[in-house]
Amino acid sequence: MNDLKGRDLLCTQDWSIEDLQRTLDLAFEFKANRYDHPLNNCLDRRTFFMFFYNPSVRTRQSFEAAATELGGHAQFLEPKSMRLKTGKKAGETIQDAANVMSRYAVGIGIRILETALEYYGQGHELLQEYAKYASVPIVSMAHDKFHPCQGLADVMGYKMHAGKDLKGKKFVQVWGKGALVRSWCSVQESILINTRFGMDVTLAYPPGYDLDPEVIKMCEENAEMAGGRFEIVHDLEEAYTGADIVYSRNWMTSAFYDNMAKHGVEKAKQIEIERAAKHDDWITTKEWMSLTNDAFFTHCGPVDRNAEVTDEVCDGSRSIVYDVAENRLHVQKAIMALTMGKIE
Ligand code: CP
Repeated sequence: MNDLKGRDLLCTQDWSIEDLQRTLDLAFEFKANRYDHPLNNCLDRRTFFMFFYNPSVRTRQSFEAAATELGGHAQFLEPKSMRLKTGKKAGETIQDAANVMSRYAVGIGIRILETALEYYGQGHELLQEYAKYASVPIVSMAHDKFHPCQGLADVMGYKMHAGKDLKGKKFVQVWGKGALVRSWCSVQESILINTRFGMDVTLAYPPGYDLDPEVIKMCEENAEMAGGRFEIVHDLEEAYTGADIVYSRNWMTSAFYDNMAKHGVEKAKQIEIERAAKHDDWITTKEWMSLTNDAFFTHCGPVDRNAEVTDEVCDGSRSIVYDVAENRLHVQKAIMALTMGKIE
Protein backbone atom coordinates (compact mmCIF):
# COMPACT_ATOMS: atom_id res chain seq x y z
CA MET A 1 0.00 0.00 0.00
CA ASN A 2 1.25 3.51 -0.86
CA ASP A 3 0.10 5.79 1.95
CA LEU A 4 2.21 8.69 0.63
CA LYS A 5 -0.08 9.11 -2.39
CA GLY A 6 -1.56 12.63 -2.33
CA ARG A 7 0.67 13.86 0.53
CA ASP A 8 2.18 17.35 0.59
CA LEU A 9 5.87 17.82 1.42
CA LEU A 10 6.51 21.19 3.08
CA CYS A 11 9.13 19.91 5.54
CA THR A 12 10.59 16.47 6.24
CA GLN A 13 9.41 16.92 9.83
CA ASP A 14 5.82 16.42 8.55
CA TRP A 15 6.63 12.88 7.37
CA SER A 16 7.33 9.90 9.60
CA ILE A 17 10.83 8.45 9.71
CA GLU A 18 9.41 5.38 7.90
CA ASP A 19 8.07 7.66 5.10
CA LEU A 20 11.48 9.31 4.79
CA GLN A 21 13.32 5.98 4.77
CA ARG A 22 10.94 4.60 2.15
CA THR A 23 11.57 7.66 -0.03
CA LEU A 24 15.32 7.21 0.36
CA ASP A 25 15.09 3.48 -0.45
CA LEU A 26 13.26 4.30 -3.68
CA ALA A 27 15.77 7.07 -4.46
CA PHE A 28 18.60 4.52 -4.14
CA GLU A 29 16.68 2.20 -6.49
CA PHE A 30 16.26 5.02 -9.03
CA LYS A 31 19.98 5.79 -8.76
CA ALA A 32 20.90 2.15 -9.38
CA ASN A 33 18.40 1.70 -12.28
CA ARG A 34 18.17 5.18 -13.65
CA TYR A 35 16.48 4.40 -16.98
CA ASP A 36 14.96 0.96 -16.44
CA HIS A 37 13.18 1.03 -13.09
CA PRO A 38 9.62 -0.41 -13.07
CA LEU A 39 8.26 3.01 -11.96
CA ASN A 40 9.98 4.88 -14.80
CA ASN A 41 6.68 5.60 -16.50
CA CYS A 42 4.63 6.46 -13.41
CA LEU A 43 4.09 10.08 -14.55
CA ASP A 44 3.13 9.02 -18.08
CA ARG A 45 1.72 12.14 -19.85
CA ARG A 46 1.25 13.92 -16.51
CA THR A 47 2.32 17.48 -15.68
CA PHE A 48 4.04 18.87 -12.57
CA PHE A 49 3.84 22.66 -12.17
CA MET A 50 6.85 24.53 -10.77
CA PHE A 51 6.39 28.04 -9.39
CA PHE A 52 9.66 29.88 -9.04
CA TYR A 53 9.50 33.22 -7.22
CA ASN A 54 13.33 33.05 -6.95
CA PRO A 55 16.15 31.72 -9.17
CA SER A 56 17.61 28.22 -9.13
CA VAL A 57 20.14 25.94 -10.84
CA ARG A 58 19.76 22.57 -9.12
CA THR A 59 16.09 22.61 -8.20
CA ARG A 60 14.67 23.59 -11.56
CA GLN A 61 16.93 21.32 -13.64
CA SER A 62 16.61 18.33 -11.33
CA PHE A 63 12.79 18.55 -11.16
CA GLU A 64 12.58 18.89 -14.95
CA ALA A 65 14.89 15.91 -15.43
CA ALA A 66 12.99 13.92 -12.77
CA ALA A 67 9.62 14.48 -14.46
CA THR A 68 11.10 13.55 -17.86
CA GLU A 69 12.69 10.38 -16.49
CA LEU A 70 9.30 9.36 -15.02
CA GLY A 71 7.54 9.87 -18.35
CA GLY A 72 5.92 13.21 -17.46
CA HIS A 73 6.56 16.90 -17.92
CA ALA A 74 7.59 19.65 -15.46
CA GLN A 75 6.25 23.06 -16.44
CA PHE A 76 8.20 26.16 -15.35
CA LEU A 77 5.98 29.02 -14.16
CA GLU A 78 6.95 32.50 -13.13
CA PRO A 79 4.35 33.80 -10.68
CA LYS A 80 4.93 37.40 -11.80
CA SER A 81 3.34 36.54 -15.16
CA MET A 82 0.24 34.99 -13.57
CA ARG A 83 -1.74 37.93 -12.10
CA LEU A 84 -1.74 36.34 -8.63
CA LYS A 85 -2.91 38.25 -5.57
CA THR A 86 -0.19 39.08 -3.05
CA GLY A 87 -0.18 41.02 0.24
CA LYS A 88 0.11 44.26 -1.70
CA LYS A 89 -1.32 43.50 -5.13
CA ALA A 90 -4.84 42.69 -6.33
CA GLY A 91 -5.22 39.55 -8.42
CA GLU A 92 -6.39 35.95 -8.48
CA THR A 93 -6.62 34.36 -5.03
CA ILE A 94 -4.60 31.32 -3.98
CA GLN A 95 -7.88 29.48 -3.48
CA ASP A 96 -8.85 29.94 -7.13
CA ALA A 97 -5.35 29.43 -8.55
CA ALA A 98 -4.80 26.24 -6.52
CA ASN A 99 -8.17 24.81 -7.50
CA VAL A 100 -7.69 25.57 -11.19
CA MET A 101 -4.12 24.25 -11.33
CA SER A 102 -5.22 21.04 -9.61
CA ARG A 103 -7.41 20.39 -12.68
CA TYR A 104 -4.34 20.40 -14.96
CA ALA A 105 -1.42 18.99 -13.00
CA VAL A 106 -0.68 16.04 -10.68
CA GLY A 107 1.47 18.13 -8.35
CA ILE A 108 2.70 21.67 -7.70
CA GLY A 109 6.16 22.72 -6.54
CA ILE A 110 6.79 26.17 -5.08
CA ARG A 111 10.01 28.09 -4.37
CA ILE A 112 9.64 31.33 -2.45
CA LEU A 113 12.59 32.86 -0.62
CA GLU A 114 13.74 36.00 1.17
CA THR A 115 13.54 38.72 -1.50
CA ALA A 116 10.04 37.64 -2.56
CA LEU A 117 8.77 37.97 1.02
CA GLU A 118 7.88 40.69 3.49
CA TYR A 119 8.54 38.75 6.69
CA TYR A 120 9.95 35.42 7.86
CA GLY A 121 7.26 32.75 7.76
CA GLN A 122 5.27 34.33 4.93
CA GLY A 123 6.59 31.75 2.44
CA HIS A 124 5.54 28.88 4.69
CA GLU A 125 2.08 30.44 5.06
CA LEU A 126 1.76 30.68 1.27
CA LEU A 127 2.64 26.99 0.83
CA GLN A 128 0.19 26.04 3.57
CA GLU A 129 -2.53 27.99 1.80
CA TYR A 130 -1.82 26.24 -1.51
CA ALA A 131 -1.86 22.92 0.35
CA LYS A 132 -5.24 23.82 1.86
CA TYR A 133 -6.92 24.48 -1.48
CA ALA A 134 -5.07 22.27 -3.99
CA SER A 135 -6.33 18.73 -4.47
CA VAL A 136 -2.86 17.61 -5.68
CA PRO A 137 0.36 17.45 -3.60
CA ILE A 138 2.25 20.66 -2.86
CA VAL A 139 6.03 20.21 -2.68
CA SER A 140 8.38 22.85 -1.28
CA MET A 141 11.17 23.58 -3.72
CA ALA A 142 12.76 25.73 -0.92
CA HIS A 143 10.88 28.35 1.01
CA ASP A 144 11.86 30.66 3.86
CA LYS A 145 11.68 27.94 6.54
CA PHE A 146 12.45 24.59 4.93
CA HIS A 147 13.96 22.77 1.95
CA PRO A 148 12.79 19.14 2.24
CA CYS A 149 14.13 17.89 -1.12
CA GLN A 150 17.58 19.18 -0.19
CA GLY A 151 17.40 17.55 3.25
CA LEU A 152 16.61 14.16 1.71
CA ALA A 153 19.36 14.52 -0.91
CA ASP A 154 21.82 15.40 1.87
CA VAL A 155 20.94 12.30 3.92
CA MET A 156 21.18 10.12 0.82
CA GLY A 157 24.71 11.46 0.32
CA TYR A 158 25.68 10.74 3.94
CA LYS A 159 24.33 7.20 3.66
CA MET A 160 26.34 6.69 0.44
CA HIS A 161 29.58 7.83 2.04
CA ALA A 162 29.41 7.64 5.85
CA GLY A 163 27.35 4.43 6.13
CA LYS A 164 23.70 3.37 5.96
CA ASP A 165 23.27 3.79 9.72
CA LEU A 166 24.06 7.40 10.60
CA LYS A 167 23.36 7.06 14.33
CA GLY A 168 26.19 8.47 16.43
CA LYS A 169 28.00 10.22 13.56
CA LYS A 170 29.07 13.77 14.44
CA PHE A 171 27.46 16.14 11.95
CA VAL A 172 28.58 19.78 12.03
CA GLN A 173 26.42 22.48 10.50
CA VAL A 174 28.71 25.47 10.52
CA TRP A 175 27.98 29.07 9.54
CA GLY A 176 30.23 30.44 6.77
CA LYS A 177 31.02 34.01 5.84
CA GLY A 178 30.00 35.19 2.39
CA ALA A 179 28.20 37.74 0.31
CA LEU A 180 25.20 35.72 -0.85
CA VAL A 181 22.95 36.44 2.19
CA ARG A 182 21.27 33.05 2.38
CA SER A 183 17.91 32.19 3.85
CA TRP A 184 17.51 29.65 6.65
CA CYS A 185 15.74 26.93 4.67
CA SER A 186 18.57 24.51 3.83
CA VAL A 187 20.22 24.78 7.23
CA GLN A 188 16.99 24.37 9.20
CA GLU A 189 15.96 21.40 7.07
CA SER A 190 19.41 19.89 7.56
CA ILE A 191 19.48 20.08 11.35
CA LEU A 192 15.90 18.77 11.52
CA ILE A 193 16.39 15.72 9.30
CA ASN A 194 19.83 14.87 10.69
CA THR A 195 18.54 14.82 14.27
CA ARG A 196 15.68 12.59 13.05
CA PHE A 197 18.22 10.10 11.72
CA GLY A 198 20.01 9.96 15.08
CA MET A 199 23.14 11.88 14.19
CA ASP A 200 24.96 13.92 16.85
CA VAL A 201 24.31 17.36 15.41
CA THR A 202 26.45 20.36 16.28
CA LEU A 203 25.18 23.72 15.07
CA ALA A 204 28.02 26.27 15.08
CA TYR A 205 27.73 29.97 14.40
CA PRO A 206 29.01 33.34 15.62
CA PRO A 207 26.79 35.02 18.24
CA GLY A 208 23.88 36.84 16.58
CA TYR A 209 23.07 34.25 13.92
CA ASP A 210 20.36 32.38 15.85
CA LEU A 211 17.89 30.36 13.81
CA ASP A 212 14.14 29.95 14.35
CA PRO A 213 13.63 28.96 18.04
CA GLU A 214 10.74 26.66 17.09
CA VAL A 215 13.06 24.71 14.78
CA ILE A 216 15.73 24.51 17.49
CA LYS A 217 13.14 23.10 19.90
CA MET A 218 12.12 20.50 17.30
CA CYS A 219 15.78 19.49 16.85
CA GLU A 220 16.16 18.99 20.60
CA GLU A 221 13.05 16.82 20.64
CA ASN A 222 14.17 14.87 17.55
CA ALA A 223 17.57 14.16 19.10
CA GLU A 224 16.01 12.93 22.31
CA MET A 225 13.60 10.70 20.40
CA ALA A 226 16.32 9.26 18.13
CA GLY A 227 18.85 8.78 20.94
CA GLY A 228 21.26 11.34 19.46
CA ARG A 229 22.59 14.73 20.56
CA PHE A 230 21.90 18.29 19.48
CA GLU A 231 24.11 21.17 20.62
CA ILE A 232 24.79 24.78 19.68
CA VAL A 233 28.36 26.10 19.92
CA HIS A 234 30.05 29.38 19.03
CA ASP A 235 33.60 28.04 18.96
CA LEU A 236 35.12 26.66 15.75
CA GLU A 237 37.64 24.32 17.39
CA GLU A 238 34.92 22.74 19.48
CA ALA A 239 32.71 22.38 16.39
CA TYR A 240 35.22 20.75 14.04
CA THR A 241 36.89 18.42 16.55
CA GLY A 242 35.92 14.79 15.84
CA ALA A 243 33.40 15.66 13.10
CA ASP A 244 32.39 12.94 10.61
CA ILE A 245 30.54 15.31 8.25
CA VAL A 246 30.98 19.07 7.88
CA TYR A 247 28.42 21.23 6.09
CA SER A 248 29.30 24.94 5.90
CA ARG A 249 26.75 27.45 4.79
CA ASN A 250 26.17 31.15 5.16
CA TRP A 251 22.87 32.35 6.59
CA MET A 252 21.40 35.74 7.33
CA THR A 253 20.56 37.20 10.75
CA SER A 254 16.96 37.49 11.88
CA ALA A 255 17.27 41.28 11.37
CA PHE A 256 17.28 40.86 7.57
CA TYR A 257 13.51 40.98 7.05
CA ASP A 258 13.04 44.03 9.28
CA ASN A 259 15.88 45.80 7.49
CA MET A 260 14.34 44.89 4.13
CA ALA A 261 10.99 46.37 5.23
CA LYS A 262 12.71 49.55 6.51
CA HIS A 263 15.44 50.12 3.93
CA GLY A 264 14.72 47.87 0.91
CA VAL A 265 16.40 44.66 -0.28
CA GLU A 266 19.73 46.08 -1.42
CA LYS A 267 20.44 47.95 1.80
CA ALA A 268 19.33 44.97 3.91
CA LYS A 269 21.76 42.75 1.95
CA GLN A 270 24.56 45.26 2.37
CA ILE A 271 24.04 45.31 6.16
CA GLU A 272 24.26 41.49 6.22
CA ILE A 273 27.36 41.41 4.01
CA GLU A 274 29.17 43.97 6.19
CA ARG A 275 28.25 42.05 9.31
CA ALA A 276 29.34 38.68 7.87
CA ALA A 277 32.70 40.10 6.76
CA LYS A 278 33.66 40.62 10.43
CA HIS A 279 33.85 36.85 10.99
CA ASP A 280 36.98 36.11 9.02
CA ASP A 281 37.72 32.71 10.59
CA TRP A 282 34.32 31.27 9.63
CA ILE A 283 35.41 29.51 6.45
CA THR A 284 35.97 25.76 6.10
CA THR A 285 39.67 25.29 5.45
CA LYS A 286 42.10 22.35 5.33
CA GLU A 287 43.32 23.45 8.78
CA TRP A 288 39.87 23.28 10.37
CA MET A 289 39.17 19.96 8.58
CA SER A 290 42.39 18.53 10.07
CA LEU A 291 40.63 18.56 13.48
CA THR A 292 37.91 16.24 12.21
CA ASN A 293 37.61 12.49 11.98
CA ASP A 294 38.66 12.72 8.29
CA ALA A 295 35.21 14.25 7.71
CA PHE A 296 33.29 14.44 4.48
CA PHE A 297 32.57 17.96 3.31
CA THR A 298 29.14 18.82 1.99
CA HIS A 299 27.19 21.83 0.79
CA CYS A 300 23.76 22.17 -0.81
CA GLY A 301 24.95 24.63 -3.45
CA PRO A 302 25.36 27.13 -4.85
CA VAL A 303 28.75 27.19 -3.08
CA ASP A 304 30.25 30.58 -2.26
CA ARG A 305 33.81 29.43 -2.89
CA ASN A 306 36.60 30.90 -0.77
CA ALA A 307 34.02 32.46 1.52
CA GLU A 308 32.06 29.51 2.96
CA VAL A 309 34.76 26.97 2.03
CA THR A 310 38.14 27.02 0.31
CA ASP A 311 38.54 25.53 -3.18
CA GLU A 312 41.00 23.07 -1.67
CA VAL A 313 38.32 21.54 0.61
CA CYS A 314 35.45 21.87 -1.84
CA ASP A 315 37.43 20.10 -4.59
CA GLY A 316 39.22 17.73 -2.20
CA SER A 317 38.89 13.96 -2.01
CA ARG A 318 36.41 14.11 0.93
CA SER A 319 34.02 16.51 -0.77
CA ILE A 320 30.60 15.05 -1.63
CA VAL A 321 28.99 18.22 -3.00
CA TYR A 322 28.38 16.90 -6.53
CA ASP A 323 27.00 13.56 -5.29
CA VAL A 324 24.55 15.44 -3.08
CA ALA A 325 23.55 17.65 -6.03
CA GLU A 326 22.96 14.53 -8.15
CA ASN A 327 20.85 13.05 -5.35
CA ARG A 328 18.33 15.88 -5.79
CA LEU A 329 17.27 14.10 -9.00
CA HIS A 330 16.90 10.67 -7.38
CA VAL A 331 15.03 11.84 -4.25
CA GLN A 332 12.69 14.06 -6.27
CA LYS A 333 11.87 11.14 -8.58
CA ALA A 334 11.05 9.14 -5.45
CA ILE A 335 8.92 11.96 -3.97
CA MET A 336 7.02 12.41 -7.24
CA ALA A 337 6.52 8.66 -7.77
CA LEU A 338 5.23 8.12 -4.22
CA THR A 339 3.05 11.23 -3.84
CA MET A 340 1.69 11.71 -7.37
CA GLY A 341 2.73 8.74 -9.51
CA LYS A 342 0.64 5.96 -11.02
CA ILE A 343 1.67 2.95 -8.89
CA GLU A 344 -0.26 -0.31 -9.30
N1 CP B 1 20.40 23.76 -3.39
C1 CP B 1 19.50 24.36 -4.19
O1 CP B 1 18.30 24.38 -3.96
O2 CP B 1 20.08 24.91 -5.31
P1 CP B 1 19.37 25.91 -6.32
O3 CP B 1 19.09 27.18 -5.57
O4 CP B 1 20.35 26.11 -7.44
O5 CP B 1 18.10 25.28 -6.81
